[in-house]
Amino acid sequence: MGACFSARIKADSPCHTGATTKSVNAGEMSSSSSSVAPPTPGRSEGEILQSSNLKSFAYSDLKIATRNFRPDSVLGEGGFGSVFKGWVDETSFSPTRPGTGMVIAVKKLKLESFQGHREWLAEVNYLGLLHHPHLVRLVGYCLEDEHRLLAYEFMPRGSLENHLFRRGSYFQPLSWSLRLKVALGAAKGLAFLHSSRVIYRDFKASNVLLDSKYNAKLSDFGLAKDGPMGDKSHVSTRIMGTRGYAAPEYLATGHLTSKSDIYSFGVVLLEMLSGRRVVDKNRPPGEHNLVEWAKPYLASKKKVFRAMDSRLEGQYTMEESHKVASLASRCLSMDANCRPSMDEVVMHLEETRNSKEYEDGHNKSAGARHRMPRRVVDDAKHGSRLPLSYPRPSASPLCT
Ligand SMILES: Nc1ncnc2c1ncn2[C@@H]1O[C@H](COP(=O)(O)OP(=O)(O)OP(=O)(O)O)[C@@H](O)[C@H]1O
Ligand SMILES: [Mg+2]
Repeated sequence: MGACFSARIKADSPCHTGATTKSVNAGEMSSSSSSVAPPTPGRSEGEILQSSNLKSFAYSDLKIATRNFRPDSVLGEGGFGSVFKGWVDETSFSPTRPGTGMVIAVKKLKLESFQGHREWLAEVNYLGLLHHPHLVRLVGYCLEDEHRLLAYEFMPRGSLENHLFRRGSYFQPLSWSLRLKVALGAAKGLAFLHSSRVIYRDFKASNVLLDSKYNAKLSDFGLAKDGPMGDKSHVSTRIMGTRGYAAPEYLATGHLTSKSDIYSFGVVLLEMLSGRRVVDKNRPPGEHNLVEWAKPYLASKKKVFRAMDSRLEGQYTMEESHKVASLASRCLSMDANCRPSMDEVVMHLEETRNSKEYEDGHNKSAGARHRMPRRVVDDAKHGSRLPLSYPRPSASPLCT
């Protein structure tokens, strides 16, 4: 693979134009900790690596930092390869003893990964340039012989996927209030990307990582693309992504727009509401595909409880569930033009969260808050949950 990589470096170079300059959005997006990159038309691999301000790690340093990629330091596994926990010095980034310095997550490309170099470079390209409180921070990379690694800030609470679908004492179900917080954080990350004319293309629960306070940060920019320029309505691409999350019109045509990300956001929002995976063949017939199954319930105030995660019992009002479910329903519109923009999504989620906080504060002093009636809660519990152990979906070329 080493030889294959070095021979293909130029041809594989994504020739992304990188993120473009654009003033950032209101609210958190205009905070001083957000930054948008200068225009970077058609950068070569050398330019990407040189200009990125990232630490270029020696393979031996990352090997020491992760204690020789010890199996017990594995944080997770994806299509790209395994992710290991490691320790480095905060200023010099040289490896330190476990438990000292700064914790990092080291993603190590599987040697047999064909797409690997292209995705590795796209990640360095985008995360080297884009900085925002809701994007994971890339600390550095390693490019040495056949080795391709990425070192990120460590996200102590792992992925949203684990919190929604893993069973076990470590993963307690996320509360309604935390789900709103996570949804809003992820929405802000995606809104920031769109304001920077970047299409993310791989929005899914496993790519939303959580810090110790459940702040959501987007990770994995291997499939990201620059959005269309000028009067172009879309970019044409090979159809890539994760089954279940990709927008129907993108699957049908390969035409990619920011509205494709909004569809994927709708899928994740629905997974958060329902506690169900987008595709789950362990479900009864008719319920394998979450979007098809849930859609009729989402737009109806009277039926929405049927789609809600029974573990959220008593935590939300009908008004709140209806608001979020109809937002998910709009994001999942078959007609891409009917989907809201990410700025609009942020605004709606912010409104719901604020009114919830106001109501919670108010009810603390005034007594119990209005909750779903018991009958409704019991109905929601009925037949909705089964033990889940469905294999995880992974990003790959998607054939139609
Ligand atoms: N920065 C990080 N901090 C802590 N854990 C992480 C970090 N990055 C990744 N992980 C963990 O490693 C797992 C694997 O991540 P990875 O991005 O390689 O694959 P994935 O997103 O799960 O799947 P796919 O390859 O299909 O995108 C994540 O689900 C998460 O649990
Ligand atoms: Mg990922």
